[in-house]
Amino acid sequence: MTGQRNRDLEDKVALVTGAAGDIGRSVVERLRERGCRIVAADVKASVESLADQGRIVCVNGDLRQEQTAQDAVSAALTHFGALDILINNAGRHLQCSTLDTSSAQWDAILETNARGTFLHCREALKVMSERRSGSIVNVASISGVIGIAGQVAYAASKGAIIQITKSWRSSSLPAASGSMPSHPAL
Ligand SMILES: NC(=O)c1ccc[n+]([C@@H]2O[C@H](COP(=O)([O-])OP(=O)(O)OC[C@H]3O[C@@H](n4cnc5c(N)ncnc54)[C@H](O)[C@@H]3O)[C@@H](O)[C@H]2O)c1
Repeated sequence: MTGQRNRDLEDKVALVTGAAGDIGRSVVERLRERGCRIVAADVKASVESLADQGRIVCVNGDLRQEQTAQDAVSAALTHFGALDILINNAGRHLQCSTLDTSSAQWDAILETNARGTFLHCREALKVMSERRSGSIVNVASISGVIGIAGQVAYAASKGAIIQITKSWRSSSLPAASGSMPSHPAL
């Protein structure tokens, strides 16, 4: 990364979901190194270990609930006075044949990955639209692009995330805003 790109992120306010997970922790750490102030959100109480006075505030809640998304955006505004970046990273994986996937498993994966992403985008967009700036990164998966055997619910949820992202890119984001899907490969 160049010094210019580092400076571009300085003092930006980012909300990162799934911050207690493997990728989420790395994202929080990289953003902190670049001078961002961060709201780190996760359903795991261990997210609180990321707290850093004046730089990282933690929100512990289930992102399937509307209130959790509202609380996370409010935390950014209350503690840091802005919300510049949303990284929808939280997600659940399921490797299970179609025949063995229960409706409860389907609902859990879709609610976490697709509904959770939608709720956080919507709440963030309220702030970003008003301020006419902001960036949203929705973490998808190659499974949502090509479909992978044994991942019917996961692939559907990640496909939904890609389409959510595309629909915002083409319509309702303010002029100075952007959104993009990301497909991590570890
Ligand atoms: N790891 C990979 O190889 C890979 C590949 C492609 C896509 N992804 C995507 O990257 C993202 C992060 O993956 P990871 O490997 O770090 O996974 P992870 O399981 O380590 O982290 C996911 C985090 O999301 C949180 N989370 C799950 N359900 C939640 C809920 N209801 N409310 C709030 N938080 C919740 C978990 O507590 C966890 O901390 C996911 O969206 C995943 O689908 C990962």
